[in-house]
Amino acid sequence: MVETRNAQAEIGVIGGSGFYSFLDDVTEVTVETPYGPPSDSLFLGEIAGRRVAFLPRHGRKHHIPPHRINYRANLWALRSLGARQVLGPCAVGGLRPEYGPGTLLVPDQLVDRTKSRPQTYYDGEPLPDGQEPNVLHLAFADPYCPAGRKAAVAAARGRDWEPVDGGTLVVIEGPRFSTRAESRWHAAQGWSVVGMTGHPEAVLARELALCYTSLTLVTDLDAGAETGEGVSHEEVLRVFAANVDRLRSVLFDAVAGLPAPDGRGCLCAGALDGLDPGFELP
Ligand code: ADE
Repeated sequence: MVETRNAQAEIGVIGGSGFYSFLDDVTEVTVETPYGPPSDSLFLGEIAGRRVAFLPRHGRKHHIPPHRINYRANLWALRSLGARQVLGPCAVGGLRPEYGPGTLLVPDQLVDRTKSRPQTYYDGEPLPDGQEPNVLHLAFADPYCPAGRKAAVAAARGRDWEPVDGGTLVVIEGPRFSTRAESRWHAAQGWSVVGMTGHPEAVLARELALCYTSLTLVTDLDAGAETGEGVSHEEVLRVFAANVDRLRSVLFDAVAGLPAPDGRGCLCAGALDGLDPGFELP
């Protein structure tokens, strides 16, 4: 374990269900935030000469359900280590028959159907050190980093895994899966995949001017809730496990393909330009 002040990373990777470790040669770091502890320690390592911090979103023992994840602490912790770009792989259900298990979809849009999650840093609530966040309303029309999406899509292609480039991720509150009626409704809206963790991760990243890219791995045909028992957690974990090695390879290549920290010319990097957060960014 090393002290936070000596630890640095330029890229964060937040692993989801079935994805609890990422790099072999790591340094474990505990980070404190004004919002309490993140989901777990952060694990620092290197890929292609770039310092990476890995954080298991549900904790390494999968003990934190999607609605209880401390998303604010997680993004804050990554930024406080120096991360400016974040890759967020997650398991999802496919909402179209052609998006079956094993599909990799890099969404370009997001629909929030969560209910109870703190989803902003800018709520005017004082931080423990007395700083008072302003009330800000950030643009979020395009929730994902275009440069990060490009790197993710290119990385998948480079590993002969043709991804779906674009689509809408709808995020439900969970921890239960959708009813058949909800699933049919999501599909009828034209949404592509359904998950439980993509929100508020993406918006909190934007609020800290971090680049955020979602890589969704389809583990089940949610729309297939039409037949059989519906989705099961065992199925999700089984399909994720069958794909985790190639997903790790894609993430490695995506990390290597991200722009250098000082080369970020995207909307995410400038999200707070001209605005006063009211507190010092970590
Ligand atoms: N994660 C994996 N599969 C899912 C599904 N069908 N619905 C919501 N989250 C999921």
